[in-house]
Amino acid sequence: MSKKILITGGAGFIAHHVIDKILSSTDWKIITLDRLDFSGNLNRLNEVVMAYPEIERKRVKVIHHDLKAEINPEIAASIGRVDYISHLAAGSHVDRSITYPLEFVMDNVVGTAHILDYSRKLDSLERFAYFSTDEVFGPAPYGVNYKENDRYNSTNPYSATKAGAEELVVAFENTYGLPSLITHTMNVFGERQNPEKYIPMVIKKVRDGDLVTVHANSKKTVAGSRHYIHAEDVADALLFLYNYDISSMSADITGAKCQKFNIVGKDEIDNLELAEFIAKTQKKGLNYEMVDFHSQRPGHDLRYALDGSKMANMGWTPQSAYERLEKTINWSLKNDRWLSI
Ligand SMILES: NC(=O)c1ccc[n+]([C@@H]2O[C@H](COP(=O)([O-])OP(=O)(O)OC[C@H]3O[C@@H](n4cnc5c(N)ncnc54)[C@H](O)[C@@H]3O)[C@@H](O)[C@H]2O)c1
Repeated sequence: MSKKILITGGAGFIAHHVIDKILSSTDWKIITLDRLDFSGNLNRLNEVVMAYPEIERKRVKVIHHDLKAEINPEIAASIGRVDYISHLAAGSHVDRSITYPLEFVMDNVVGTAHILDYSRKLDSLERFAYFSTDEVFGPAPYGVNYKENDRYNSTNPYSATKAGAEELVVAFENTYGLPSLITHTMNVFGERQNPEKYIPMVIKKVRDGDLVTVHANSKKTVAGSRHYIHAEDVADALLFLYNYDISSMSADITGAKCQKFNIVGKDEIDNLELAEFIAKTQKKGLNYEMVDFHSQRPGHDLRYALDGSKMANMGWTPQSAYERLEKTINWSLKNDRWLSI
């Protein structure tokens, strides 16, 4: 019997790439659960799924549900038996979390509690994967790349709700024996990303000759940086983790069991370098201004950085961000309806 995976937030940006990857590289059945808010777009999922033959398309089932409410027996029956869960549904836009922090507590903390409470009662579940973020560690001074079990230091409500949800996952593994894992993923890019995000925003601004704002330090001399990673690499890392015998990995020296994994892009790229690369790929000039983003907008940090050696030692590394970036830029220009949704 083929395996079945439940993916929350399947109409969202990263999850639709995860669904694409599972369709292309496994025979698993996929149930996706989403409430379809402004960032969840069924056209995104539809575009990916419709590229497969009808027999493959039938492997995907979409269920409308808002995780602020529990998974009731009718929805559980509609989902049926589940082998894997990937919990990606979340409020994900940092600016919105600063304006509406309570909404983020409801979606990210309460929503995670609801999916965990449903998961702990499943007999067949092999692994629950929670998608967290590098932002739980807060800003990384130059020279510091956080390891999986370093201390947390949230600088905005989004990060705090992701960190809070992580602790619920840890507690459900410790209390109920829920087989879990947590990923910390760095900034993800790729096809069909929400145009509020930096990379699609810069692609569009460069195309239209508009001024690009580059997030920098207070003296406006050093641009912020990230280890950008393509969503397909993230999906690949997730499948790698599902296939890895995590249960044989030992607890840390303090006895903590729940394994955490940093999924880190290959190259650290600063925001000016990135904007220049986007302009060069389009064969256009870059009209830009460095701004002291951090002082103007609390909650945004100049640099985030994770150490990817744990996954590398296990045998997983991502592809080069630059190659993926070039493809994403060209794809986005050809499919430019995704730049203005
Ligand atoms: N994008 C990144 O760079 C990044 C980096 C690290 C971690 N993450 C995490 O990965 C996950 C996916 O991120 P994304 O960028 O694809 O987000 P996204 O905003 O594109 O998608 C989120 C999806 O979750 C759904 N959703 C939100 N709240 C819900 C609720 N209460 N009930 C049901 N569905 C709900 C939305 O409708 C949407 O389809 C999130 O958990 C995010 O915190 C993202």
